[in-house]
Amino acid sequence: MSGLYKISVTVNGQAYDREVEPRLLLSDFLRHDLGLTGTHVGCEHGICGACTIMFNGEAARSCIMLAVQAEGAELVTVEGLMRDGKLHPLQEAFREHHGLQCGFCTPGMLMTALDFLRTNPAPSEREIREGISAVLCRCTGYQGIVNAVRAAAPVLAAER
Ligand code: FES
Ligand code: FES
Repeated sequence: MSGLYKISVTVNGQAYDREVEPRLLLSDFLRHDLGLTGTHVGCEHGICGACTIMFNGEAARSCIMLAVQAEGAELVTVEGLMRDGKLHPLQEAFREHHGLQCGFCTPGMLMTALDFLRTNPAPSEREIREGISAVLCRCTGYQGIVNAVRAAAPVLAAER
């Protein structure tokens, strides 16, 4: 017995079949096995939010999940946001409104904000601040991020 488990997972629309150790973190699977290093790893214990991805349509922290838990799941990472070579409207808003500086928190911030706007398409500023509060940013003071999410909200709502 090899001690490896077979998993089949879809990431950014592409199907992958891999054999993984049962202890492998989902964040490490994405970064090391699939080479999708856009998902960042900060604290590795569920606090900072940098590793947030979409897991079956909902934001989830990939550092506190195991790769084997993703068996049969559909995942989206920050690499999956671009459309036809263009930035996703939320990415465009972050660029436009200075929602990033070092960019370390940005992948997790984008995925968290996407999930938040899915559940609250027309949020107030206070709601945005609460909605993104699970992701820590050391650089921006959050105002640019809040402005970006507010600017993207009507654009995404119009696409529904
Ligand atoms: S790296 Fe996952 S929450 Fe910090
Ligand atoms: S932009 Fe640097 S941590 Fe958020």
